[in-house]
Amino acid sequence: MRKQQMHLMAFLLAGPTCHHHGMWRHPETENAFLDPAAWEHVARVLERGCFDALFFADISSIYDAHGGGYATHLGRGGQMGLLDPLPLIAIMSRVTQHIGLGATISTSFHHAYQLARVLATLDMISNGRVAWNVVTSAATSEARNFGLTGLPDKNTRYDIAEEVLQACCALWDGWEPDALVLDKKAGIFADVDKVRYAEFEGRHVRSRGPLTVPRCPQGRPVIMQAGSSARGRDVAARWGEIVFTLQHSKHDMQVFYRDLKDRVVKAGRRPEECAILPSLDPIIGETESIARERQAYMNSLVDTELGLAVMSGHLGADFSRFPLDQPITELDLDPAVAGSMDVIVQGTKAANLTLAEAARHFATSELTPQIVGTPESVADQLQDMFESEACDGFIITPTVFPGSFEQFTRSVVPELQRRGIFRTAYPGTTLRDTLRMTP
Ligand SMILES: Cc1cc2nc3c(=O)[nH]c(=O)nc-3n(C[C@H](O)[C@H](O)[C@H](O)COP(=O)(O)O)c2cc1C
Repeated sequence: MRKQQMHLMAFLLAGPTCHHHGMWRHPETENAFLDPAAWEHVARVLERGCFDALFFADISSIYDAHGGGYATHLGRGGQMGLLDPLPLIAIMSRVTQHIGLGATISTSFHHAYQLARVLATLDMISNGRVAWNVVTSAATSEARNFGLTGLPDKNTRYDIAEEVLQACCALWDGWEPDALVLDKKAGIFADVDKVRYAEFEGRHVRSRGPLTVPRCPQGRPVIMQAGSSARGRDVAARWGEIVFTLQHSKHDMQVFYRDLKDRVVKAGRRPEECAILPSLDPIIGETESIARERQAYMNSLVDTELGLAVMSGHLGADFSRFPLDQPITELDLDPAVAGSMDVIVQGTKAANLTLAEAARHFATSELTPQIVGTPESVADQLQDMFESEACDGFIITPTVFPGSFEQFTRSVVPELQRRGIFRTAYPGTTLRDTLRMTP
């Protein structure tokens, strides 16, 4: 039995799919992603289920690597964030009191000052509940949207990311907690001795400060990271308080977990300062067979061509130029793309999938394991992974929206609570309180 309880976080994307490409086509999916009331509703549902946090994944473009344009990706409803996550978490903060609110923002396109300012503002208005999923972005389509012809190589992107984080911290730390005085009688608005210039001078990033925003309730937002390369894991080990990962199996999760916790310790931190959360797609039914039927129906909604388009976008290669029945081992791919392709079809390459089969496999959940069964058997599977040191909890991804979250919080959460492995109430006010204060 582990001393800590598990963490649960919800994966959101303001668009047609999360990981399962059939999501928007399911009859129960509302496709209300343009309606603020829908986001308020899901925030309330997740808070009722005591989730640690929700977060929005995001990509700053509509992928267009497939067939030289966005016809398939946009036309068939590929993975994209139609709306910017930041205003969405702002409105969600107004209808909740406890749940953490995360947004993905790239360090490759925005200046550290702007990032520090908007994130501190959000932390302020949410009373200390903001998380930042730090990404470096990989798609040329994103770079072009910001007026660049391309992105620097991955190592340079991570160098920049670490400087952006350092600069943000210098800006956030520039205000002491009691710097705002607001003494009307004496006419003293702020104690200027408690506010400092940041004077951050890096190789890639410079910012003088001070920030306009007074010290926010958490001091700085909770940092999330999802790097999976060696460099990405080192960045996660130095900075990540929540690490989001996609692993196919319990064994893969355990290997990743041990590796990353070792890196956290080598970075001089305590292992429990970094929660490692793999993503899962639960598919729940009243009986095992109902759950299996739901899964089969759900997976029948996947579109092979769309799977290829999203894979093309993620890997930066145009898969439309290969015959669909070609075995993936025989594709003439750039070595970097071939490496990422191996990751995408990890564990299935031996079966010598054709390109069409690989695309369907990818479109079915983008590597995220589907956990299928009754609420009790889903809880059994989560408990087993959690107690086998495969993770510190989970990122729950919906296959039907918002129905998956309604069903999960109504049926699986009470079962986990009954077993004593998940909280029944929030322990404090800030997201960091929630992450740390598991008994
Ligand atoms: C589980 C997971 C989720 C990710 N979510 C996003 C995202 O929402 N937006 C984004 O731009 N990149 C996202 N990424 C990309 C990573 O942040 C990272 O840039 C990418 O994995 C390449 O770095 P790496 O080779 O170190 O993993 C995600 C990666 C993983 C593994």
